[in-house]
Amino acid sequence: MLTEFLTARLLTNRFCDRSLAYGEAQRAILSLAGAAQANHVISRWDGYAPTPLRSLPSVAVACGVAEVLYKDEGHRFALKSFKALGGAYAVERLVAQHGSDGLTVTCATDGNHGRAVAWGARRAGIRAVIYIHEGVSQGRADAIARFGADVRREGAHYDDSVRASAAAAAANGWSIISDTSWPGYEETPKAVMQGYAVLAMEVEAQGGRPTHVFVQGGVGGLAAGVLSYRWEKFGAARPVMTVVEPDKADCLYESAMAGQLRTATGNLNTVMAGLACGEPSLLAWELLGIGADAFMSIPDEAAIATMRDLAAIGVIGGESGVAGLAGFRIAAANPAMRGALGLTAGSRVLVYGTEGATDPAVYRALVGKSPEDVTP
Ligand SMILES: Cc1ncc(COP(=O)(O)O)c(C=O)c1O
Repeated sequence: MLTEFLTARLLTNRFCDRSLAYGEAQRAILSLAGAAQANHVISRWDGYAPTPLRSLPSVAVACGVAEVLYKDEGHRFALKSFKALGGAYAVERLVAQHGSDGLTVTCATDGNHGRAVAWGARRAGIRAVIYIHEGVSQGRADAIARFGADVRREGAHYDDSVRASAAAAAANGWSIISDTSWPGYEETPKAVMQGYAVLAMEVEAQGGRPTHVFVQGGVGGLAAGVLSYRWEKFGAARPVMTVVEPDKADCLYESAMAGQLRTATGNLNTVMAGLACGEPSLLAWELLGIGADAFMSIPDEAAIATMRDLAAIGVIGGESGVAGLAGFRIAAANPAMRGALGLTAGSRVLVYGTEGATDPAVYRALVGKSPEDVTP
């Protein structure tokens, strides 16, 4: 349980009407049929295996709930993050539509998405040019380059590298594989999000029947992907979903407050590098704005404490990957938040541990030991 993080905020979403059926407008973005297709493709990739769904009984007892399940994406292919399901799937879709002849893909990244696009490009035998900003660690840059991508550093922030990637794509006729969508750019981010829905399908096949889901948000693609699957399938009976963001990059929380798209108020300078996004994805927001039950904004220290506590029970969670669990632990310790979310002794909580130690040096600095020294 995390009791000391008094700055964390919870907002229940007044625009969420759980009785609203998943309709045509939503299905035009993401659908069960699309999820089944993504699952069909991805489950045939070399080395595919569902990632472990770990039960964390000591966390459940400490937090006063019946069960805590941790979907451990640290074991996702060679990438150690769930992003493989999105970026690489979108590359494969593009190649299926246009062929691989002369195709070059590009994107901007904080690390994980670029690694997924580079990995997908290598699998498809095409070239990838990946843009990173000054704040991306050398370890993450090297990991992308190891998949054969041309890695370029441009600008101080993620948005600078987005612009550099877009300019290079326009000048050279490259295809942008972005995980975020904006007006007029929708098909590729849809494929990315549709790939993420496979996470929810795997959890279901592994017997996970959560009453509550806590999932971290960057641009919102992951949260929208897993929400869409359960909303269309279970309607009002779906689990209560809370989207958790760093307080320095809480664009979804701010948007929920305003009831429309907003940029983050913080300076984006968070240790949760994968979540350091200032603007929501347009399409993700169309689903989350009316479909997510609540939004949380948490301080960096809560994520770091959660990484350490997970390491103590033998689970390796990266700084962006543990945000959902950190948010849950804060909510569980706060009677008002427990009440607002309907968390009780009977609750079954699912969190998505979306990355392992994707940068071992950063992991060591934050946890105080190397990933190899974390033993189950
Ligand atoms: C480890 C990790 N978790 C979660 C997310 C959030 O995903 P999204 O930006 O689709 O909300 C990211 C994004 O890069 C990430 O790297």
